[in-house]
Amino acid sequence: MADEAEVLTIEARNLRFGIEAAPDPDWFEKDPKRSAYCDALSIFFPEGERFFITSVQHYLPKIKDPTLQAQAKQFCIQEAMHTREHRAYNEGLRKLGYPVDLMEERVKVALAKVTNPLKRLALTAAIEHLTATLAHLVLNDPRILANTPKAYHDLWTWHCLEEMEHKAVAYDVLMQVTKDMPAYKRYLLRCIPLAIVTKNLHRILLTNLKDILRSRGIATGWKHSAHAFWVLFCFPGYYRRALGYYLRYYRPGFHPWKGDDGSAAEPWRAYFSGYSENSA
Ligand SMILES: [Fe+2]
Ligand SMILES: [Fe+2]
Repeated sequence: MADEAEVLTIEARNLRFGIEAAPDPDWFEKDPKRSAYCDALSIFFPEGERFFITSVQHYLPKIKDPTLQAQAKQFCIQEAMHTREHRAYNEGLRKLGYPVDLMEERVKVALAKVTNPLKRLALTAAIEHLTATLAHLVLNDPRILANTPKAYHDLWTWHCLEEMEHKAVAYDVLMQVTKDMPAYKRYLLRCIPLAIVTKNLHRILLTNLKDILRSRGIATGWKHSAHAFWVLFCFPGYYRRALGYYLRYYRPGFHPWKGDDGSAAEPWRAYFSGYSENSA
């Protein structure tokens, strides 16, 4: 395990946000498209996080380092709670009339194609870097979710916070179980899955996004694509702002805590300690 891996302790917070009770199709600043984008992201999580848990659990008996063992267990607990809350979130999407089963099936089919345990672990480490990238963006800029309803704001920041806390776990497990592999093979094993999953995740995400918008009678032609490009890459430019963090993974010698001490997490750790008193 890398020495940097203990930058943030991993704290599983058993919180419920109740989005399914009153789902709002325009929750993101009354913008149906940004709301739908995040809702389409939520579609990935129940199946995706079960995949992460089983991928890491498979290697638990091989992990000798007690600290990494403990971190891996906390990782599984956090992901299990994320699964539960996003399952509830997606039930809310079903109430809005979105084709949840069809959209979740696309995720299930894509993940079922990966059966080799080491490839599953490498894929998990890669996707954990994507969630860490999202967490880096959201936790560093509170304005992004500042004008959203409390339940949505808190669910997404809670999830991002815990993704940041455990961002190195799958990576460290991967590094441990491949420590005898030649360096170039190890490099390819971690980097190729990120390139592939970045492409495949967006193929499914954009398909699901269109399904959500169509179910609301919102046009998804070239104007929609141009608008999405503008929002993601120009203004506010979420992808543009996250690109540097994302690309770190391809650097030789990368580690999730190298160049990021997790300081963006601290205000949110304070926010969620004693959360019930803060709740509306
Ligand atoms: Fe998660
Ligand atoms: Fe995660």
